[in-house]
Amino acid sequence: MRHVIMYATRKGYTGECAERLQQRIGESADLLDLGRTKRPDLSPYDGVIIGGSIRASQLDRRVKTFLHGQQEQLLKKPLLGLFLCSLDEQQWQNLLDQHVPKPVIDHSSAVGWFGGKIDLSQFSPVMRFFLKKATKSSESMFREHPEHLETFADAYLEAADRLVTP
Ligand SMILES: Cc1cc2nc3c(=O)[nH]c(=O)nc-3n(C[C@H](O)[C@H](O)[C@H](O)COP(=O)(O)O)c2cc1C
Repeated sequence: MRHVIMYATRKGYTGECAERLQQRIGESADLLDLGRTKRPDLSPYDGVIIGGSIRASQLDRRVKTFLHGQQEQLLKKPLLGLFLCSLDEQQWQNLLDQHVPKPVIDHSSAVGWFGGKIDLSQFSPVMRFFLKKATKSSESMFREHPEHLETFADAYLEAADRLVTP
């Protein structure tokens, strides 16, 4: 089976997660940055994982456009996975339901939330000011959840195994 992990990232965390997933899935997985490739070709792949991050309660526009525009193609794939990166554990499930077409969620064998991070050193002084106000904290926030990534990868790979050895 050939797999592709499609993602978009602003400050790198979603990209890091996509790379870690690629390592877990192995050589048969390609990595594709939706920020660089506007019209990716899905045809070589049996399994597609799509990941995006949340800002101001919105799913990354590039990921959202892709999910809605390619919905028909995605639903024809035997294996799908979806993951989100964000800080708020209470909010992600609602945001997923809000921004991702329901048939795509229902068709996915693995759906996960990998946490997120805000490293203030990556932002301009103006953004730092606003982020400190919004988060009510003067510190960077590191809320990564690699264990969720592991669970997601296991669920995805088990579903892939079921497809090749029914
Ligand atoms: C301007 C801004 C707004 C954000 N808004 C939200 C939000 O509404 N909910 C949330 O859970 N996380 C929010 N986050 C946290 C991001 O989802 C988190 O930083 C994520 O790791 C970003 O992924 P990236 O490094 O791939 O860009 C926000 C981060 C920034 C910088």
